[in-house]
Amino acid sequence: MKSRILSRCLVTALVLLSLVNSASQAVAAEPADPHKLFEQRCAACHDPHAGIFVRDSQERRKDAVVGRKSGRELRAFLVEGHGRLAPLEVDVMVQHLTSILAADGLFRDRCLICHGRAVELARGKLIIRQGRLVGRYTGRDVESFLKTHGRIDDTQAETLLRVLARQSSSYPAE
Ligand code: HEC
Ligand code: HEC
Repeated sequence: MKSRILSRCLVTALVLLSLVNSASQAVAAEPADPHKLFEQRCAACHDPHAGIFVRDSQERRKDAVVGRKSGRELRAFLVEGHGRLAPLEVDVMVQHLTSILAADGLFRDRCLICHGRAVELARGKLIIRQGRLVGRYTGRDVESFLKTHGRIDDTQAETLLRVLARQSSSYPAE
């Protein structure tokens, strides 16, 4: 008798456990915030800034992001289990790291010749005031300024605004 009650308890416990488990899987299936994801799952072993990590260690070759030295393809490496990401999280991470490199490429092609590296422009001349990126000494609103400066379209301007804001020293850690 006792053992039957015990086993019923056990069954109930197992059912509860599997419910909790599937609930947490449902949460994991939400598209993750790439910055948080990097911070929580990668930063302990790599640079805390995804941008610094990816610029230091990865580069774009054709359509893929690969290790600068290893030549190892990022997506394949993560799919194989490095960093223990769920499949959807792999997509989020690859997209995030790829877009950082793509934005860098854009800056290099269109802006570097006059401004040097993005980080120099961002740290040296720009600052975030009241949530807007502005010229530290000119007070210029960068978003409006880029509409007529640097010969880029709106999407590119948006991308570069984000790149510069992230690299300005007043931005919270990536
Ligand atoms: C427990 C520590 C640890 C965690 C957590 C971790 N890594 Fe790594 N990672 C390493 C080590 C160590 C290496 C270098 C060894 C190697 O190349 O196999 C590496 C290598 C890599 C490489 C290959 C670099 C190259 O040039 O080939 C990439 C890309 C990478 N990690 C991305 C990530 C991402 C993205 C995350 C988070 C989802 C992550 N790592 C989480 C320890 C970790
Ligand atoms: C041909 C040279 C040239 C190119 C190319 C160029 N810039 Fe500029 N940029 C300048 C000059 C010169 C100024 C300063 C203008 C002024 O103060 O009136 C400036 C100013 C700026 C400022 C405002 C800085 C401040 O202190 O107010 C930003 C932001 C900026 N550029 C971003 C960019 C971006 C992003 C690109 C690439 C899409 C780019 N620039 C391409 C020459 C260039």
